[in-house]
Amino acid sequence: MRNYLTFILNGDIQTVTGIAGDMTLLTWLRRERRLTGSKEGCAEGDCGACTVVVARPDSKGRITWRPVNACILFMGMLEGSAVTTVEGISGPDGELHPCQQAIVDFHGSQCGFCTPGFVISLYAAWCNRTGLAANQIDDTLAGNLCRCTGYRPIVDAGLSLAGMHKPIWETQRQKAEKTLLKTIQHTEMVEISDGKKAFAAPLKQTDFSNIYAENSSATIVSGATDIGLWVTKQHRQLSRMLWTGRVDGFDVIEDNKTDLVIRPAVTHQTAMDTLGKRWPAAKTLLRRFGSLQVRSSGTVCGNIANGSPIGDMPPLLMALGSTIELQRGIKTRVIKLEDFFISYGTQNRKSDEFVSAIIVPKIKAPYLRCYKLSKRFDQDISAVMMAANVTVKNGTITDAVIAFGGMAGTPLRAKAAEAVLIGGSFNESSFVAAAATLGDDFAPLSDMRGSADYRMQAARNLVLKYGLEITGQSHVELAGSGVSALLAD
Ligand SMILES: Cc1cc2nc3c(=O)[nH]c(=O)nc-3n(C[C@H](O)[C@H](O)[C@H](O)COP(=O)(O)OP(=O)(O)OC[C@H]3O[C@@H](n4cnc5c(N)ncnc54)[C@H](O)[C@@H]3O)c2cc1C
Ligand code: FES
Ligand code: FES
Repeated sequence: MRNYLTFILNGDIQTVTGIAGDMTLLTWLRRERRLTGSKEGCAEGDCGACTVVVARPDSKGRITWRPVNACILFMGMLEGSAVTTVEGISGPDGELHPCQQAIVDFHGSQCGFCTPGFVISLYAAWCNRTGLAANQIDDTLAGNLCRCTGYRPIVDAGLSLAGMHKPIWETQRQKAEKTLLKTIQHTEMVEISDGKKAFAAPLKQTDFSNIYAENSSATIVSGATDIGLWVTKQHRQLSRMLWTGRVDGFDVIEDNKTDLVIRPAVTHQTAMDTLGKRWPAAKTLLRRFGSLQVRSSGTVCGNIANGSPIGDMPPLLMALGSTIELQRGIKTRVIKLEDFFISYGTQNRKSDEFVSAIIVPKIKAPYLRCYKLSKRFDQDISAVMMAANVTVKNGTITDAVIAFGGMAGTPLRAKAAEAVLIGGSFNESSFVAAAATLGDDFAPLSDMRGSADYRMQAARNLVLKYGLEITGQSHVELAGSGVSALLAD
């Protein structure tokens, strides 16, 4: 076992040892390395001022440049990767990178606090050669807040970069980085610690499951988009963390004959591509899951394991009839996803079990739809979220799943409404009747995201909207067409 981390920072190999397992990359960059270009705005993944790019080869050896929030990324999560901060993107003689130059040319900065984060989000899209087109740029920048320039000049700067050629020095730099990345892919397990707080990054599945079976008090970390906030906001002390992100085979979605099997380190962004191709409604939802930075770190399994009643993935996955695999040592068991959520804060998971997969059957679901209601379109947690899927044969509804988040202490199916739909005609009146029964299914709470009355009214309207939409009577999109719609005017 190795007690130091190896990663690349702005082109140079780093070895880091003796640090607390919960040290974030932003703290390390700013305090230890005095690289203060990445800013701390919120320390909770919301503002994007701390955005850096992390590149690592996946299980198939492919490299993607992921924009991530350094404020909630633990140092141990960098093992074997390449980090680029705003200090690392300019040319060899200090010339501005095209992404920086575009911000200057389009007057995309006033106070400048948010600017490094914007530049890096553009830089990630620039490196990946996707995300700078008119129908993509809003999503690319949704995780970055600016409170004084206004977004138009920043969006224009981003649009100007689409199709621009890379400078030769950048092509050479990326080639060198890829070579360097290969040299730091080590096979032994890594555990770093300051003597009080440890972070373990195993590579083999058997190591991961054995360590957890023997140390079930360890905190499993996947993308840390929840756990990061336990540290930065709640100041919780985590004495031992065990990371899924480096484990061989954990970052894949297995595509077998009947199912898609989502392993523990699969991020929402990866899931968005794979699930979205098969079920467009999944893409519509995932596009509104956090921001690109959050989706690039946060995982599907983490969104289930946290047991949140307002997580966005459980209703979608329940509507698709998914199951969950739980593993303890080498033993696994599979249960229906809806049976995993017992009550608020309690899941059907023993203390030494971890979520080893979400299994999604490859069903045809032409009537699958997802609706997320939140105060902002982008980067916001749901007040109410509904995923619905009905099966229709010869004008009759033969099966129905209507799953909600935000309506109870757990994600929950509206069994009474489903019962009304099943056997009903495939027309508006069935959905009107189903909406009317939601009071039998739910007694929602009031909180800062919505009152109980609002939630119930909104849920009823969503069932109605769903019915109108899939029976072809009306299709209303309230928001989300972004800059592409503006350009079309
Ligand atoms: C700015 C911001 C925006 C967000 N927006 C949304 C949103 O729109 N919708 C939404 O639903 N959520 C949102 N979230 C919450 C969060 O991103 C998700 O819940 C995410 O899916 C958590 O996954 P993770 O991999 O980051 O989990 P982590 O933070 O790593 O872990 C979360 C919990 O799950 C446990 N865990 C993780 N993996 C496993 C496993 N394999 N087995 C057992 N336990 C495990 C951890 O121990 C911990 O208790 C947002 C968060 C932030 C910071
Ligand atoms: S400081 Fe706001 S997202 Fe990191
Ligand atoms: S330039 Fe000031 S917050 Fe964006």
